Amino acid sequence: MIDVAVAGGGLIGLSVAWRAAQRGLSVAVVDDAPGTGASAAAAGMLAPVTEAAYGEEALLRLCLASLQRYPAFAAEVEAASGLPVGLRTAGTLVVGFDADDVRALDALHDYQQELGLAVERLTPRETRRREPGLTPRLRGGLAVEGDHSVDGRALHRALTGAVEAAGVRLVRDRVAGVQVSGGRATGLALAGGGELAAGTVVLALGAHSNTLPGVPPLPVRPVKGQILRMAGAAGLLTGTVRALVRSRHVYLVPYGEDGLIVGATTEDRGFDATVTAGGVHELLHDAIEVVPGVTELELVETLARWRPGTDDNAPLLGPSTLPGLVLATGHHRNGVLLTPVTGDLVAELLATGELPGLAAPFTVERFPHR
Ligand code: GLY
Repeated sequence: MIDVAVAGGGLIGLSVAWRAAQRGLSVAVVDDAPGTGASAAAAGMLAPVTEAAYGEEALLRLCLASLQRYPAFAAEVEAASGLPVGLRTAGTLVVGFDADDVRALDALHDYQQELGLAVERLTPRETRRREPGLTPRLRGGLAVEGDHSVDGRALHRALTGAVEAAGVRLVRDRVAGVQVSGGRATGLALAGGGELAAGTVVLALGAHSNTLPGVPPLPVRPVKGQILRMAGAAGLLTGTVRALVRSRHVYLVPYGEDGLIVGATTEDRGFDATVTAGGVHELLHDAIEVVPGVTELELVETLARWRPGTDDNAPLLGPSTLPGLVLATGHHRNGVLLTPVTGDLVAELLATGELPGLAAPFTVERFPHR
């Protein structure tokens, strides 16, 4: 029997497994296609300040704590794996396209200032000086020097290497269920027929966390997002641009040598993976309004995946109502950003039995009706 079986080999599952193995625990991760879920679709924005939302101050604190850990985390993953993770520290601009969009930007700016966050209000000219690829038609912007990005796919590759180097067993099989005996989780049932007995099971299956036999009902639902990947964007943008275009959100995130991710739709359609003409049109239309040079790029990939949404947009961390089952799921829009802090907090629980205070607001207990 091993100490910890992690269901799910996305960024969250790998991060928990890595940190748990570093604490001396024997760990296996089970996934039939690791890194092909939300981790593959994520744009990799590390942007707690530009994404700050009213009423989500506890989530903001967790996101800021994770952002603070990112430089050391990225360096450690790169050293352990010998692979780059594509951390970009060029900052983030938020731009508004019409007068209503700029009013929304001003409201966001007021809120960010109330919270004491570092953000600078820019005129259209100042905004374009920072990113000359932006349209001259934009009406204003905000600069957040501290909001960055990472290449989610590169990070997943590197984290896989780090996890293997730390002695974690990667089991290429589909998780068929959580095994329960005597009222507690005792391991994972594998679709291939085998079983993996473990002292503790960690649920890190993202949007699929609520559909697994043996798992008590959880407030996690799939929130579909369509994204586009472009090539040929070298020099077009230096950092992330988020934009409000006639009240619609779009973001453009450069990655690698010449890549650009444009995202994302937000749709409540269950596990529908269809890339729609309307979704692609909306994203391309808004991206081109904001950065006209996008029109020249090669469209190399379209993809739809599911954010693991929760009722309050914050993750589920820590013990579940089933003894022996620990939650590391429900990261909704912030999975990449919350990867380092989730690994640290959940591994602390696994190694010591104590959940750190930073994670306390995010246990499933906050949903008493569940
Ligand atoms: N955080 C980006 C998204 O959810 O689309």
